Amino acid sequence: MKKTFAILASLLISFSALADEGMWLPSLISQRIADMQAKGFKLGAEDIYSINQASLKDAVVLFGGGCTGELVSAEGLLFTNHHCGYSSIQKLSSVEHDYLRDGFWAMTRDQELPAEGLNVRFLERMEDVTSQVLDGYSLNMTESERSELVTRNSEAVKKAAVAEGKGLRASVEALYYGNQYFLFVYRQYDDVRLVGAPPSSIGKFGGDTDNWMWPRHTGDFSIFRIYAGKDNMPASYSEENVPYTPKKYFKVSLGGVKEGDFTFIYGFPGSTREYIMSEGVRYISEISDPAKIDLRTKRLDILKRYMDSSQKIRIQYSSKYASISNAWKKWQGEAKGIDKMNTVAEKQAFEKRFIQWAKGGRYEGLVERIGGLYERLVPYDFAREYYNETVRAVELINFASNWPDGNVDAFYKDYHMAADKECFVALMNAFKDNVPEQFQPEYFKNGLASYGSVEAWADEIYGKSVFADEKAVASLSKDASLDSDPAREFAKEFAKWYSETIVPVITVINSELDLAYRDYMRGQMEFQKDKTFYPDANLTLRVAYGHIAGYSPSDGVYYHPSSTVKGIMEKDNPDIFDYNIPQRLRDIYAEGGHEDQPVCFIATNHTSGGNSGSPVINENGDLIGLNFDRVWEGTMSDIVFDPEFCRNICLDVRYLVFVVREIGGAGHILDEVEFTN
Ligand code: ARG
Ligand code: ASP
Repeated sequence: MKKTFAILASLLISFSALADEGMWLPSLISQRIADMQAKGFKLGAEDIYSINQASLKDAVVLFGGGCTGELVSAEGLLFTNHHCGYSSIQKLSSVEHDYLRDGFWAMTRDQELPAEGLNVRFLERMEDVTSQVLDGYSLNMTESERSELVTRNSEAVKKAAVAEGKGLRASVEALYYGNQYFLFVYRQYDDVRLVGAPPSSIGKFGGDTDNWMWPRHTGDFSIFRIYAGKDNMPASYSEENVPYTPKKYFKVSLGGVKEGDFTFIYGFPGSTREYIMSEGVRYISEISDPAKIDLRTKRLDILKRYMDSSQKIRIQYSSKYASISNAWKKWQGEAKGIDKMNTVAEKQAFEKRFIQWAKGGRYEGLVERIGGLYERLVPYDFAREYYNETVRAVELINFASNWPDGNVDAFYKDYHMAADKECFVALMNAFKDNVPEQFQPEYFKNGLASYGSVEAWADEIYGKSVFADEKAVASLSKDASLDSDPAREFAKEFAKWYSETIVPVITVINSELDLAYRDYMRGQMEFQKDKTFYPDANLTLRVAYGHIAGYSPSDGVYYHPSSTVKGIMEKDNPDIFDYNIPQRLRDIYAEGGHEDQPVCFIATNHTSGGNSGSPVINENGDLIGLNFDRVWEGTMSDIVFDPEFCRNICLDVRYLVFVVREIGGAGHILDEVEFTN
């Protein structure tokens, strides 16, 4: 054991020629700092992460459990993306106060709006706890014995860590497939208030049309403030709470950016799989992505038809549509990118060399074993994903299944039954046609035989289920017996099939895969001694550094790295929802002098979902932008990173300042911010 970790540690320090790929652990950043400094960064490792003094990590938060945010004042002011604040802004909105449509600007502190249910987490510290977590491990343990041990030891480590103070939360995360374990201790603040948000015509400008694409002109920011008890410690919402005093906050640079400038992203990337075997990649790009894309195309086509037909339905479904479409679009770019990079063949060639090298050693037969595991896993994983994207994607079935959980008013307020029924028919027909028969539930096959068609079955469910009748649901007693309700029955039977015949098999194969990947990861590190490895993303704090850079998406075309307000005016079209801008912006532009106002820029940082809202920092450690997306040609970066095409998209912080002052007329919000040039 010990020897392996020594090798692992030494591998981590060797440098590589790998452009700007990588998401590095802040506590180990001393291993990268020389490279960062060589590329222009002027601060030291202790400035990025320290447990002894305030460091940049103290100005970064996990925002709402899935995005990143950053502190920008001594009084708890925080920037994140508009799409990260979106659901909070939506919940605070009503017909009289439509903050999504019109934007919101608190004119005084009193007007800041508590966002119920929203929290932020600061990373207090992180620590390698591998030896504690594996205490008691012996090589003859089975994988499930090992994982029980890991869970038990992790619980003890977490318990000890949170005993130390207020609002602490801890998690133990596996890195490199469990070759290492790290403890992360967070302090969570639950009183977070909305301070400002642009209208969606700025914050979501370009909508789904421009999503995942460059050139981009989205003003994707919103502004919040963290509140604390009088002791500056976490406290649930109270009028008595005061603005939180951060240990550290970013200064905001108005100096601007140009091609080649150093950029550094500090945030919480969610999930990447850079080290999987060719068969895993092949499943993603050739089977999983295409199947899910196809199912979502069906849903989006149906929803769009309904949304185009009625303003009411458009509002009901705009947020749902955006989230269905976000992954749908990304998977297309991802599959295309994997294909273009020839990743499957490249990995196969690598595996051949690995197999050769492994002969006679402890890694012999490993790649073949992983290949065999995929062969067993694929049909089951396909059924799992199909279940998620069909049965679980039908709103009525989902709601019926969760009953009595779920908010009745909220559900029906945004529900249009005819559209949902069409989705049911399209999705379940796809299930019938595309899931191999031996993987379909008996219940489904029998039902089809007796109803004759999915359509007839849909008539039964949408005609007779109590959930098809809002009034009936509202007066339904929480303990009413619903066993014979056709929607409920459908949900329950599928859930039963899923948990009894699909999940157990997947669980067994996955635990074998976990074990095999733990070895394969170590094997890759030993085989490629000159390569620098970084752990796959797992929603823990990471550093990604790179530089501002354009790219060439195709022959004869070069994309410059910055966009300006001029580009917004070129796209402006009152008849196209995604490109309709506030009249105020047109008026300001017409006055002249704003053609060159910067809006967005792109850089070479390695980011993923969860990095949205991350601070983009310059060589001096000052804030130059807010990360929010990736370019179309680089969306495969969760699987494979191509330095030529992978670019992250950022809001230029100068556009935030412009919008707050000129569009919002709320310059006072930024009075507490420290600007640099
Ligand atoms: N693609 C970005 C991300 O994955 C932005 C998504 C929000 N915008 C949208 N049009 N759906 O989160
Ligand atoms: N838009 C993503 C997010 O919300 C970022 C990305 O996937 O690049 O985190």
